[in-house]
This record gives sequence, C-alpha cells and structure tokens, in this order.
Amino acid sequence: MHVGGTLRVPGDKSISHRALLFGAMARGTSHVGGLLTSLDARSSARVLRQLGAQISPLGEQRAVMIKGRGRLRRPATVLNCGNSGTTTRLLLGLLAAHPFSATLTGDRSLRRRPMRRVTVPLAEMGARITETNENGTLPLTIRGGKLRQLRHEMPVSSAQIKSCLLLAGMAAGVPVSVREPHGRSRDHTERMLRAFGFQVEEADGWVHFQPGGVLAPFEMQVPGDPSSAAFPVAAAILAEGGELQITGVCVNPTRVGFLAVLDRMGAKVALDGLEIQFGEPIATLVARPALLRAAEVRPEEVPALIDEIPMLAALATRAQGTTVFREVGELRVKESDRLTLIAGNIRALGGVAEVVGEDLHVTGTSAPPRGRVRSEGDHRIAMAFAVLGTLPGARVKVDDLGCAAVSFPGFPKMLRTIRR
Ligand code: S3P
Repeated sequence: MHVGGTLRVPGDKSISHRALLFGAMARGTSHVGGLLTSLDARSSARVLRQLGAQISPLGEQRAVMIKGRGRLRRPATVLNCGNSGTTTRLLLGLLAAHPFSATLTGDRSLRRRPMRRVTVPLAEMGARITETNENGTLPLTIRGGKLRQLRHEMPVSSAQIKSCLLLAGMAAGVPVSVREPHGRSRDHTERMLRAFGFQVEEADGWVHFQPGGVLAPFEMQVPGDPSSAAFPVAAAILAEGGELQITGVCVNPTRVGFLAVLDRMGAKVALDGLEIQFGEPIATLVARPALLRAAEVRPEEVPALIDEIPMLAALATRAQGTTVFREVGELRVKESDRLTLIAGNIRALGGVAEVVGEDLHVTGTSAPPRGRVRSEGDHRIAMAFAVLGTLPGARVKVDDLGCAAVSFPGFPKMLRTIRR
C-alpha cells in the first residue's frame, strides 16, 4: 500500500494514568486536555472515583475535570483495575499511605502478573498486604498508614515499580531512593513530581525523592502516545510509497528508544518542530518507506522501547538478516507472555523466530505473511500484526483486534485512513 496524510494519535497512556492519579490526590479541581479515553485510562478513572475523586466522563472532545480531596477515601467495594498494570501498581503506592484497607483485582491477564515486585518494598515501608494467592498475584488487599522511608534496589528496570514507590513516598511524606539495574525506564512520574516542587535527583542509576512539594490542582495537555505512534510509523516503513506525519507525539528520550533501533535498521524517522510542553518534549514524527536490515537490541536499550518490541519484531520479519533482542524476559509478564506469543505468531505467519533463553531472534524473509494471529487479548500484539497485514500479498487474520481499545481507540480506522 501507499500511505499519506497527517494524523494525531491518542493521548499518552502513561501520562494519562499519572494525570488522573495526581489530580485525584490534589485538593481542588484540575483540568486535563488530550487525556487518553481508552479502556486502561477508564480503569484508572473508575477506581479513583471509587476512592472519592470526582472525574468527569472521559471523552475526546473536552478536557477532563478531576476534583481531588487531597487524599483518597475508603472504597465501598473491590477496586477492579481491568487490564491495567499501571493503574494497579501506581495505585498500590498511593494506597500504602492511607489508613484503610482496599482490595484490588483485575481481568484474567492482570491476575497473572507479578505484584510482589511492588508489595514487598511497600511492606518494607510499613504497608500491610494480604495475599489470596500463593504467588502474590491479584486479588490482594492493602492496608496502609504511616510509612517509613525506603532505599530499594529494584530487581528489574520498571517505571511501574519506580513510580509506585515514589508515589508512596509522596503520599506519606517520606524520602524514597530506588535504583534500576540496567537502563532507565520512563521518567514521567519524576517529571511530574518536580513540576509540583518535589526534589527528585538522579545519580548512578539511583532516583532520590525528597518530600516537600505541594500537590496543587493543575491544568495540562497530554501529548500523543509514542507507543501508539509506533504503529503508523511502522505501517509507513512497510509501505511501497508515500509519507506519514504524526503530530504532537511525546518524544521523551525514555520512550523513543525504538527510533534509534529503526535508524540502525535503515529507517530514519525525522522529528520536526521539537518543543517542550508541560515538561515533556513533543514533536511531529515523519516516517517513510525503507528497506530494512537486521539490528541488535542491547539489554540497556530495552526499558526505553519495552512496549515497542512487538512492533519492532514484526518489522524484523521484513529485515535482511537476524535481529536479536537481548534479555527481554520481562516480556513474559506483560499483558500476555509477549515473548512466546511474538515468536509463535511470527512462525504462524510463515516467518522465522525463536526464543533463545531470554533473547528473541527474528530472521527476515520476503514471502508475504499469511496465517492466523493469536492476540490473547493483548492490544500491542494485535496491533503489531495487524500492521504486518498491510504488506502487499499479506493475508493476516488477527483473532481479536477489538483489544486495541485498551490503549488505542480507533486503531482499525487509523489503519484505513492512512492508505492511499
Ligand atoms: C508503564 C511502564 C511499563 C510499560 C507499561 C506502562 C508505565 O511497564 O510496559 O505499558 O506507565 O509506567 P514496566 O515499567 O513494568 O516495564
């Protein structure tokens, strides 16, 4: 296909969750424009309403109003976080500082995801956690209260763990220092905390948080999600001609690691009109067709492109040579076991992919992809393979493209409108 046009992608998922959480904790009324309206964002809004925040309906047209009370209120019923790991883990951090108990659960996918990576350090700070499963997964009950300060070396680089613990420090008014083992994960929480006057310093892989800021109500605009932009970017790279412009995309360096890998693969995506808005760098991405060659993705690069690996792996099926993603075991505990599912789906389409220990190897071919893709309800798996299905001669049947609504409402329509 040929591509063309200028488009916007929905609001950034990570920033949208954080805007809702900070808004619910501020005393007074905040307004957030461009907030993501997807299922995951709705999960955050739903549970925060149960916790006493007033939040206007999430719609694309108007800014969302969030009326917080300066603290959360005891929920009357179980908090269902749906499919959203970010909602669950960040909220656990806030709840750890509140003197009541709350029970959290989620859908089948979320109920299999590891929670001890946050509940163990939160317990060390003083929160009481009651598990119902022997592996510590949801559902679980947290009873918070006064917390102690924390110094914690994280087992994996993860913005969800880091943010959970920083938010616990913020809500409890205690210092928190966390260290990521390799590579910096997304830093939206740190940027927002600084905007509220908290001291957040980075040194030798550590992030040091000091209380002292004021969570005042705020006005902000959420930029476009680079993880969603990765899909039209990939469609443009695979196209036979044309150019796509994607405006207003967040290009925070902790999020756009995929652009550096694409560059090494031979696809240059230009960043136009770079500016800073509400503490985040924003630009227009300009993507064009390219002939791809294989690349190696190093372990320290992984945190800055963790959500783009399904898309990069799909692109690697069209690159000359074998692309290797090193130490990507973390993919096993995302919305699905992405490591197994990516390799299995590539093979189901006639491609070549293999999981070797914690690494993913993908070898390019020129035969058009044909076959059925199992998404297991994972939005990014469904979207990555749907993009591969735009290749000439492709016959790709994704079992459930509806799950794209978890992060990218209107994804199928977007794929149709960029066609020329
Ligand atoms: C997110 C962090 C990432 C990412 C997820 C959103 C966040 O998870 O995969 O989609 O908003 O903090 P990890 O930090 O656990 O890798």
